[in-house]
Amino acid sequence: MDENKKIIFSGIQPSGSLTLGNYLGALRNFGKLQDSYNCYYCVVDMHTLTVRQNPEELRERSYALLALYLACGLDPDRNVLFMQSHVPCHAELSWVLGCYTYIGELSRMTQFKDKSQRHADNINGGLFTYPVLMAADILLYKTDLVPIGVDQKQHLELARNIAERFNNIYGDTFVVPEPFIPKHSAKIMSLQEPEKKMSKSDSNANNFILLTDPKDVIMKKFKRAVTDSGCEIVYNEEEKPGISNLINIYASINDTSREAVMAEFEGKRYGDFKMVVGEAVCETLAPIQEKYYQYIADKSYLDSIFKKNAEIADEHARRTLKEVYEKVGFIVY
Ligand code: TRP
Repeated sequence: MDENKKIIFSGIQPSGSLTLGNYLGALRNFGKLQDSYNCYYCVVDMHTLTVRQNPEELRERSYALLALYLACGLDPDRNVLFMQSHVPCHAELSWVLGCYTYIGELSRMTQFKDKSQRHADNINGGLFTYPVLMAADILLYKTDLVPIGVDQKQHLELARNIAERFNNIYGDTFVVPEPFIPKHSAKIMSLQEPEKKMSKSDSNANNFILLTDPKDVIMKKFKRAVTDSGCEIVYNEEEKPGISNLINIYASINDTSREAVMAEFEGKRYGDFKMVVGEAVCETLAPIQEKYYQYIADKSYLDSIFKKNAEIADEHARRTLKEVYEKVGFIVY
């Protein structure tokens, strides 16, 4: 690891498959970051327990996430791809940080409020303290930058407050992390309800394209994608959210501008445009899927990556945890 490079940390829950939105909005750019930053990508399996999981499925999805990361071009020798539960420091630091976080702060988290409504039969302690574990994830690695969507902004803000609070009491310990919005990251919306973000946890599968969706499914989803009244292929987020989303997808995939897409499809019909976008998506995903199926069939290779990277992560995390333990007054050897 190059000490002069800034540190990026991102956590992804293995709670569903990744979507085209994850790919165009984040994953695709991760490969470009590996030259300029030290990057940690953590499969945050511990976070998923806040909602009831099927154990076999959880394990499989954790492997699938790593396989997809590799298939999308992340080099396992230049990025620390690891599992949260393999590095016990996360849970350990989380306990300490919880003692520097107020119930009032946690009660204000909108995701907690939303999730307790959606899972009213299981409002558990983990759901409440979830942002503390997330703060531990980030702060353990002296992270400078955290790539996140708007839905996680409040959690990152809390992590910053916890870090500052701790630093004020004990002197400089944690780096206070900043949000990171990579350049050229596209925000991909739902295909059926283009006012909302495309999300893997959406209950309607027609809203999202999974990176592992087969070609016929992808084409069907694009065929059904909501378009808007009128018939011109022009970008207008407010009045034509559906078409604008398709323009964004196509522009992003082809690394071109919205204007160029509009020029290319001037006078063309919505239906034809949808099919071209669908084809382009299939073409982009085909090589990723091919690699994905190779990786996912080789669990021992995936295990070897998890093991190796857990050791690397542990070494860095352990250093921070020791510092924290010393500062709070534990006996440290
Ligand atoms: N809470 C994040 C989400 O649901 C996942 C996450 C856990 C995370 N730890 C993190 C994201 C640390 C960024 C950094 O999307």
